[in-house]
Amino acid sequence: MGSHRIAVMPGDGIGKETIREALKALRAAEKLSKGALKLETTELDWNSDYYVKHGRMMPEDGIQILRGYDAILFGAVGDARVPEHVSVAQTILAMRRGLDQWANIRPARLLAGAPCPLKDKQPGSIDFVVVRENTEGEYADVGGSIFANTPNEVAVQSAVFTRRGTERILRYGFEMARKRKKQGLGKGKLTSVSKHNAQRHSQVFWHKVFEEVRKDYPDIESHFLYVDAACMDMVRKPETFDVLVASNLFGDILTDLAGVVVGGLGIAPSANLNPDRAAPSMFEPVHGSAPDIAGKNIANPLAAVMAGAMMLDFFGEVVPAKQIVKAVESVLADPQAPKTKDFGGKALCSEVGDEIAARLG
Ligand code: NAI
Ligand code: MG
Repeated sequence: MGSHRIAVMPGDGIGKETIREALKALRAAEKLSKGALKLETTELDWNSDYYVKHGRMMPEDGIQILRGYDAILFGAVGDARVPEHVSVAQTILAMRRGLDQWANIRPARLLAGAPCPLKDKQPGSIDFVVVRENTEGEYADVGGSIFANTPNEVAVQSAVFTRRGTERILRYGFEMARKRKKQGLGKGKLTSVSKHNAQRHSQVFWHKVFEEVRKDYPDIESHFLYVDAACMDMVRKPETFDVLVASNLFGDILTDLAGVVVGGLGIAPSANLNPDRAAPSMFEPVHGSAPDIAGKNIANPLAAVMAGAMMLDFFGEVVPAKQIVKAVESVLADPQAPKTKDFGGKALCSEVGDEIAARLG
């Protein structure tokens, strides 16, 4: 185990509340390690308040400053005082592109005690990971518009699929399928999600690269699904999935569905990885700033806590990462333990966080 420098960016709304609880769990895991694990955290107030004061979400050299850390723990941004596309573009998208966090990892595992909207699903029966391309595709910032606010108004947005970007994300998915199989966690299966029947340039290209890359992984059972069929199967038979690989937009949409299938935004974590480790990776709950419940200390902190565990795991701190996951599982599975409202309880965000920290101690 070792020492790690973490930039903590709670952001706006419930981001501040859930990240506080994630830090409690991380501190408890640190204490449990008896000095073997050291987490040096620096809190950065780069959020919508910062925007109101400075006209931007982070300093001009923000990305450069972040390069000085081993990882970023991020809450969420979103506030009525800042245009939506500005807050997200100047924080999340800026970090993903500026730090080349090209692999977005979103695990979906049904834990005992989590509310599942599907009928008769047993804990553990749903256990898959969506690997989403995170730097290009449909979210590449390429396009333009003309004749604004006239009857001739036109908007064009282009998707960008590069060989480098497409190949590396598919390979990453295959490697993950291999690793999960070796660890006894997965089925050794990969689903490439595409739409090459309708988008004959970008998606035909994606599928061609998939067909090439899969030849290098004969030990992995691989197939493709059209994105609409993948949505259907995620509801009809989510047990059949192991690793899914998808483009930026398809992965974004699929992972909201995946999150809901295993209990909702209250428990969905994600990692934005720079797998080459050339720059820090970013770990965040999937949820946004949730203005409807912000400031009330009632948000579910589990997603942020699990994002913290993903961060430790990426550091190679496998033992404390597992300890945090186990503590979350034990709180969830215990009918007496505090739960937030979205999980059928009455507890406060901080009470759930305290309970997780206590079970780590
Ligand atoms: P949201 O994720 O903030 O909230 C959606 C719904 O889920 C709300 O009803 C909220 O109360 C509930 N919810 C979310 N997280 C929860 C939690 N931990 N515990 C209990 N309930 C929870 O998404 P929404 O409403 O679409 O967006 C709100 C703001 O957040 C917007 O400004 C949006 O742009 C931003 N946003 C930011 C993201 C980020 O920073 N990564 C991601 C998604 C949205
Ligand atoms: Mg989303």
